Amino acid sequence: MTAPLLQVQGLTKRFGGVAAVNNVSFDLAPGRIVGLIGPNGAGKTTLVNLITGVHRADSGSLRFEGHDVTRQRPFEAARRGLSRTFQIVQPFPRMSVLDNVTAGALFAGNAASPAQAREDAMAQLRFVGLQALADQPAAALTLPSRKRLELAKSLAMRPRLLLLDEVNAGLNSAEIGAAIELIRAIAAQGITVLLIEHLMKVVFSLCDDLLVLHHGELIAQGSPQAVAADPKVIEAYLGTKYAERMRA
Ligand SMILES: Nc1ncnc2c1ncn2[C@@H]1O[C@H](COP(=O)(O)OP(=O)(O)OP(=O)(O)O)[C@@H](O)[C@H]1O
Ligand SMILES: [Mg+2]
Repeated sequence: MTAPLLQVQGLTKRFGGVAAVNNVSFDLAPGRIVGLIGPNGAGKTTLVNLITGVHRADSGSLRFEGHDVTRQRPFEAARRGLSRTFQIVQPFPRMSVLDNVTAGALFAGNAASPAQAREDAMAQLRFVGLQALADQPAAALTLPSRKRLELAKSLAMRPRLLLLDEVNAGLNSAEIGAAIELIRAIAAQGITVLLIEHLMKVVFSLCDDLLVLHHGELIAQGSPQAVAADPKVIEAYLGTKYAERMRA
């Protein structure tokens, strides 16, 4: 069996009295696309913030490629190959699209030189289809393009694990179709993907495995088919989603 890329053991994070992430344990195998699902407020973004060093865990541990990374800071996470997109995209508005992505590459420090960082950035802009907008200020981009910029920025960090926090939120169905192809192409490069996603269509077409959070706890994990048939998941999450769809 291949060694896990990421090992999460008993991870807990409290905000005041609320356990946003509560004693969560799982392994991520390399080379897979794993969906992280659950209702609003379940703790999905907090879990990504813990994995990428934005928040410090109250207890539990994290290992990445066998190294203890429980206490790493965000730039250390990026340097090790853990990069993420943000649910609320916040590019530097006055900087060009290319400079925003170059800044990401420099932050991770995985390029040999600033010139190399810029080349990596341009390559990723081509990959996400934003090359024609490279010289525009980031503020000029539409929401779908800002989402792509965010993706290019995290790819320019040269990740081995990419954590995507709702990269499809606010996109129309054609844009989502294109984003699905892009995520497949990222995985085909050998990058392991953890995908936070509310759209079940996207989850089912992309994910090899699912993790389900509810009130900070991991209530189910396994294949999409097994998870979708799990009564706990239907009760906590899918039931309401399906009901919403019936109403729509
Ligand atoms: N920085 C913070 N300070 C205080 N409470 C927080 C903070 N971040 C998250 N929380 C709380 O932790 C819980 C989990 O929030 P989180 O953002 O991780 O959920 P989520 O699953 O990403 O939800 P959504 O689907 O709406 O993005 C919520 O109760 C939230 O209010
Ligand atoms: Mg979130």
